[in-house]
Amino acid sequence: MTTAPTSDLDLFADDILVDPYATFAELRELGPVVHLPHNDVYALTRYDTIRDALGDWETFSSTSIGFNPMVNEALAGTSLRSDPPEHTTLRATLSENLTPRALRGLGVQIEAKADALVEQLAARGDFEAMDDLARAFPLEIVANLIGFTGEVKANMMRWGQAAMEVLGPMNQRTQESFPIAGELYGWCSTVTAADLAEGSIGRGIFDAEERGAIPAGSAGHIIHQYLGAGIDTTIASIGNIVALFGRHPEQFELVRQDPSLVPAAFNEVLRFWAPVHAWGRRVTRDVEIDGAVIPAGAQAAILFGAGNRDPRHYENADVFDITRNPVDHLAFGYGPHGCAGQGLARLEGHAVIRALASRVGSFRIGEEQRLPSNVTRSIDHLPVLDVVPA
Ligand code: HEM
Repeated sequence: MTTAPTSDLDLFADDILVDPYATFAELRELGPVVHLPHNDVYALTRYDTIRDALGDWETFSSTSIGFNPMVNEALAGTSLRSDPPEHTTLRATLSENLTPRALRGLGVQIEAKADALVEQLAARGDFEAMDDLARAFPLEIVANLIGFTGEVKANMMRWGQAAMEVLGPMNQRTQESFPIAGELYGWCSTVTAADLAEGSIGRGIFDAEERGAIPAGSAGHIIHQYLGAGIDTTIASIGNIVALFGRHPEQFELVRQDPSLVPAAFNEVLRFWAPVHAWGRRVTRDVEIDGAVIPAGAQAAILFGAGNRDPRHYENADVFDITRNPVDHLAFGYGPHGCAGQGLARLEGHAVIRALASRVGSFRIGEEQRLPSNVTRSIDHLPVLDVVPA
């Protein structure tokens, strides 16, 4: 047994957050596990290693999904930050409302909303992909789903963003985001069924609490998870759809010609640019991976994006190709914590791709602007120009 290879880089440095893929390749070639003393973490870099770790919750515990102790403490009692058996109950209630059956009726509404929005944007001839589409669309969907109204709806974007940012190490971004994430925690601990629209999923979660199906006081935590996990990530993925089709017009033409490629295209967008940069786990025992040991108690950093570009798993991994249909990509995680909202995220992603493919003949993109962000890798601003309606 040996110690893991080491790298001096800072996983959360601005330039790496904005474009991590050269770094991911470098780390992946050093080994499946690389010690990063600057961040005091062991990074998991290769597809198989990441998948195995995500499947082994006893060794890779979710008690430390964030990279600073304050956030891990604040998230106690949530599904994301718990291990079985606590996790099993929380997850069951949380996903009850997100199963394909529960989402069945919603699919039609989501498709219609995406279609109307994209038709209107296409008619304008140019638009800004992030504000006009990627942010506008999921905010509306998630707000209606959970039953948010008024002041909360206006805060969702800020809160969702901050909830992801505070998962980073205690850098300036994290410190500045804590007060905003605190507003969300505060709201979730006082929200009641009466604050949420009748018939909404949010109301249903409170009903479950009243029935005793979930522990008293956990409804607010579940709503917090929907907001924290379900907004920033989906926004990133929709922005990425526009940017990647803008960069690869021949791939856009493929999906225009054959709309049955829509699900495969969304899988490839998620594989190619994973919306989550790094995610934590606490190692509970000395664990050996490919001869190298991660010591008990160490913090692991799961690099979904590095695994998704691992050439040991995907042929021509750095090529964006919507015909490959990578159903096993890691962008939604894997195992017991695998994204509970992926059904909803898929409905939204597919609806946007389908609407673009049917309403837009061609378009080009201007310069894409990104701001460094600890956990969500997202475009901030993306002009869409010369749109020719289909
Ligand atoms: C493209 C969009 C999305 C991406 C890339 C994404 C990514 C992820 C990832 C990587 C995890 C695993 C975390 C872990 O292993 O600890 C996760 C879990 C989760 N996601 Fe998503 N997510 C997306 C959309 C959504 C949406 C729309 C919702 C809900 C409205 C949602 C709710 C959740 C929840 C509740 C969990 C925790 C599940 C658990 O702890 O068992 N996500 N997501």
